[in-house]
Amino acid sequence: MTELRSDFLWGAATAAHQIEGNNVGSDWWYLEEIAAGVIERSGDADDSYHRYPEDMRLLADAGLAAYRFSVEWARIEPAEGHFSQASLDHYRRMIDTALESGLTPVVTLHHFSNPLWFAKQGGWLADPAVETFARYIERVCTILDGVEWVCTINEPNFLSVNTSMMRAAIPVDGAAAPAVMPDDDYSMDSVVVPAPNEEIGHRLVRAHHRARDIVRERTGAKVGWTVAMQAFVATPGNEALADEIRWTWENLYVEASKGDDFLGVQAYTSRAIDADGIVDHPDRVDNTQMGWAYRPDALGIALRDAWKVNPGLPLLVTENGIATADDGVRIDYTATALEHLHQAVDDGIDVRGYLHWSALDNFEWGRWHPTFGLIEVDRTTFERRPRPSLRWLGEVARANGVRAQRD
Ligand code: BGC
Repeated sequence: MTELRSDFLWGAATAAHQIEGNNVGSDWWYLEEIAAGVIERSGDADDSYHRYPEDMRLLADAGLAAYRFSVEWARIEPAEGHFSQASLDHYRRMIDTALESGLTPVVTLHHFSNPLWFAKQGGWLADPAVETFARYIERVCTILDGVEWVCTINEPNFLSVNTSMMRAAIPVDGAAAPAVMPDDDYSMDSVVVPAPNEEIGHRLVRAHHRARDIVRERTGAKVGWTVAMQAFVATPGNEALADEIRWTWENLYVEASKGDDFLGVQAYTSRAIDADGIVDHPDRVDNTQMGWAYRPDALGIALRDAWKVNPGLPLLVTENGIATADDGVRIDYTATALEHLHQAVDDGIDVRGYLHWSALDNFEWGRWHPTFGLIEVDRTTFERRPRPSLRWLGEVARANGVRAQRD
């Protein structure tokens, strides 16, 4: 049995649009407005824009040592080329607060939401997109002193999917393109997610490489991006098809992390692949609030899949968790996922940390009912109520692993 590294990062993760509230300049805010009645709104969210010191204190008091959060482009550059020093100062205060609380900040520079002005230009497929993003990254670098871990873009594979959706909903350059919104019977719970668009994917790879170079040149941080790993498992005879599907869904992005300092691995569930492609989640009572199969082993599969593509590249689990109303299930799921992480480390895979998704219940991109949080949030009073799972994960962190915590 191999011990986890003594500097293994134990923490929890969030993203700006999902917790801050009133991110009014973003494309997501706009989408929530035009799709009102179909999807829910983020609104005040958890008001973490103002309450982040309390959020960080709860994590640190529980025994966690790292906090992954994102900075919001729509706040930092509210109009094209106009940078808000006040917003940059806000995020610098968050970094300082994390450091003073004893939390290693893991800073994500882009987590799904874009400024609306950027989306209106055509978003990631507009000609100047990469340069526009690079200019934003240069500004963000001015506040990253003392930050050791930077994630450029969160889940580019799902950002690619979101980008297709935004382009359908948001007219480009004022053209009278109809807003293509889902049918009335559309429900976020039954949505069929289209495969990531490869052209957008390649654009995001370019954006990531540009951002990586800028962050390296201007800061001392380790830099990488975070990929949603699907933990695909081929049924017998369907390995070649599974490889094709893996390429489109994740390996294009995992490959692009060659030359990075680390890869962020995000895993929640696993999907089988048969002769017809990706198999739907089975209809089981233990499916999560997302409708996903209960598969804590997904984390081990994801770590191994990522390592196979880039052997030797350090891995950081930047997201893993479960949407459940039962906190005991959250603890069981996480304990089993961590056992799989230990087994991957036993087999020589270099895993640098585990950041649970999520620190707080939050806006799950169009809906509020899936609860991923170690901390429950009252959406009217914004009172924070730590769940037993937070205390439990803090004990795991103090013991440096779920095996030691169990002994
Ligand atoms: C995203 C998070 C999201 C989580 C659960 C990841 O796709 O990075 O923003 O809330 O998974 O769906």
